[in-house]
Amino acid sequence: MKLFLDSADTDSVISRFKTGLISGVTTNPTLIFKSGEHPQDVYWDLIKAGIKDVSMEVVGDNEEDLFARAMGHVKTYGEHATIKVPCSVDGLRVCKRLSDLNVRVNVTLIFSASQAILASLAGATYISPFIGRMDDNSLDGMKLINDIKNVGVSAKILAASIRDPQSVSTAFALGADICTVPIGVFDKMYKHVLTDKGIEQFNKDAS
Ligand code: E4P
Repeated sequence: MKLFLDSADTDSVISRFKTGLISGVTTNPTLIFKSGEHPQDVYWDLIKAGIKDVSMEVVGDNEEDLFARAMGHVKTYGEHATIKVPCSVDGLRVCKRLSDLNVRVNVTLIFSASQAILASLAGATYISPFIGRMDDNSLDGMKLINDIKNVGVSAKILAASIRDPQSVSTAFALGADICTVPIGVFDKMYKHVLTDKGIEQFNKDAS
């Protein structure tokens, strides 16, 4: 069971990473765009802070484009780079080529068990089912986690597109190996009204 942060807001990520509870970071082009930073700056800031597993998404018009960009990241960031490719034909071909070179690959945008099977057969280290986006579209994200777990894929199930703390515990209970969570969800995982009330009472009684 591992927690990743799903964010390109480097200051926020680094402060939470210092808790020692975070094992990696996932980014995507939208998160990087929202951060207002260049992708290279985001990746280097995370790596320099000691984060050993950073998912870096590649985009491209075809397999060769994707592969060339992926290899650029591998050359620049070495073992810190996990290459994120979409679950498309080109993406899966690139996944197979990279995994044959022992490069970690995160196959993203997974919405069915059959996609998870293909990504796993292509040698993906991680497969990322998007729970929240399924639920947003009246599909059942948690059922997908359960289905993938029941198939018995060799890739690690990295539950993504998580919107709330309850989804984290449900995803782990259904067999996710890793949950990648936005900063806000991570912060909420600490919180319980009864914990706050208990601390307040104990502090009062101790003084
Ligand atoms: C996963 O790797 C993605 O970056 C992310 O979880 C997508 O989440 P969203 O559906 O909230 O954009």
